[in-house]
Amino acid sequence: MTQILAIDQGTTSTRAILFTDGLTPITSAQEEFPQIYPASGYVEHDPADLWRTTLATTRAVLSRTDPAKVAAIGITNQRETTLAWDRSTGQPIHNAIVWQDRRTADTCARLRAEGHEPMITARTGLLLDPYFSGTKLAWLLDNIPGARARAERGELAFGTVDSFLIWHLTGGKTHATDATNASRTLLYNIRDGGWDADICALLNIPMELLPDVRDCAADYGSTQADLFGRAIPILGVAGDQHAATVGQACFTPGMLKSTYGTGCFALLNTGDQMVPSRNRMLTTLAYQLNGKPTYALEGSIFIAGAVVQWLRDGLHLIGAAGETQSLAQTADPSQDVVLVPAFTGLGAPYWQPDCRGAVFGLTRNTGPAELARAALESVGFQTRDLLGAMQADWGAGQAAVLRVDGGMARSDWTMQFLADILGAPVDRPQVTETTALGAAWLAGLQAGICPGPEKFAQSWALERRFTPAMPPDIRAAKYARWQRAVAATVSV
Ligand code: G3P
Repeated sequence: MTQILAIDQGTTSTRAILFTDGLTPITSAQEEFPQIYPASGYVEHDPADLWRTTLATTRAVLSRTDPAKVAAIGITNQRETTLAWDRSTGQPIHNAIVWQDRRTADTCARLRAEGHEPMITARTGLLLDPYFSGTKLAWLLDNIPGARARAERGELAFGTVDSFLIWHLTGGKTHATDATNASRTLLYNIRDGGWDADICALLNIPMELLPDVRDCAADYGSTQADLFGRAIPILGVAGDQHAATVGQACFTPGMLKSTYGTGCFALLNTGDQMVPSRNRMLTTLAYQLNGKPTYALEGSIFIAGAVVQWLRDGLHLIGAAGETQSLAQTADPSQDVVLVPAFTGLGAPYWQPDCRGAVFGLTRNTGPAELARAALESVGFQTRDLLGAMQADWGAGQAAVLRVDGGMARSDWTMQFLADILGAPVDRPQVTETTALGAAWLAGLQAGICPGPEKFAQSWALERRFTPAMPPDIRAAKYARWQRAVAATVSV
C-alpha cells in the first residue's frame, strides 16, 4: 500500500503524520520546542530546533513503516516566520523571527504615515502590520552586521519555514516556496502572481534573496537519500491555514473554516475573485493549483490556544490544556469576567500591535474557574469579530456554516459557546488533523494517487454539529460587553 507523509511545522511544535493513500491517518510523532522571548514583543525560534524536530518526528514515523512505501512528502508550516541563511553553508544569519513578533511595529507605522498602505494592500491583500515577513526581513538586513552586503552579493537566501525546510531536506538543491506562503510575505503580488519589485524596493530588499514560487501541488525536489534512507519526493506545500482550508475541503466560494491552534485563523473561499476588504480583513490565496489561484478573505487572531497555554504555564491554574473545559464549566454563572488576550497586540479586525491584554469584571470571588471560562469565551468572541467583518466584505451568499479544526476544536464546551455567540452552526469533522490532511492530499494529488478536489470533498465527514442554543438577547448583551472591553483595552 502507498503512503503519504505530512510534515506540519507549527508555532510551538513539529509534527509528522503518516497517511494511507486513502488519506486515513496511520501514525504520528510530535515534538515541542522552546519559544524565545528576547524582549517585550519579540518572539524567535532557533532554526536548529525547527530542523531537529522535523528530522526527529519524520524519522520516528518512518521507523514505524517501510520507507519504500512512502510515495511523497507534503509540507505545511507556521506562516510569515522569517529566516535568512547563507547559500553556501545553509547557516542561518539569525534566529527565525516568528509571525507573532512585533519588533517592526515602528517601521510599519512609518510606512503607513508615508501613505504606502493602499498600494501595498492593493497588490498583496495585506495590511502594514509587523505580522508579515517583509518588514522582518528588512529588519534582519538592517540589524545583522554584514547581512545587507552579503544579500546584495547573492550570498543569502530568504525563506519562510517551508523554504528553509525544503532547502535543508534537498541539501540546498531547491530554494522554493509555494504561492500561499509567498502571499503572506508582503512582497508577493497576488493579483499578478509574482514578487513585487516596487514593494521590494520600498522595503530595500534585494530580490536575489527570494525563492522560486510554485503551485501547492508541484515538484519541490527530493529529500537527500542519507536523511531517511532513501530519497522521497516533496510534492505538496502550503501554509498551515491554507492546508487546513484544503483539508476542510473548502473548495467552493462561500465555504468557511476556522482553525484553532496557537492563534485562530478563519478563511472564506472567494473563488477566482480577489475581494478587497472594507473591514480590515486580509485578502489572500486560499490555494493555487495548476497555476490558477483561488482567493480567500482571512481573519487572523493571534491568541487562541495560546491563552490556554498561558493558563497552564503562566498562571499555573491547570496542569494540562484538557483541564480547561471542566474548570470553565464550574465557573460562577453570576460573574461576567471578560478577558481580552491581547498578549502580542490585537490582530484582525483591530490591528493594534502595541496594545496588551486586560481582564474586566474581577470580584473577590473570581477564581481559576472564572478565568478559564473567560479565556475560552475570548476565542468565541474573537471568532465572531472575524466572521462579522468577513461576511460584511463578502456580502451575497454568506457562509451559513463554520467548519472548525485544530486542538481547541476538540473542546465541546468551547465549540458550543462558539455556535452560541455566532448564532450559527459549527461543524466539526471526523478528521480534525485537517492541516496535515491538506498537505498530504496536495502531495498525493501531485503524485497521482489522490483524487481531484470534487472527489476529495466527498470524503469530508461530519463528526458533530453544534447548533446555537443561547437566547438572542443574552448573545447580544455578551457580545456588546466584549466589544466594550476591547475598546477599553485598545484605549489604555
Ligand atoms: O499565521 C500564523 C499561523 O500560520 C500559525 O499557525 O497553527 O502555528 O498557530 P499555528
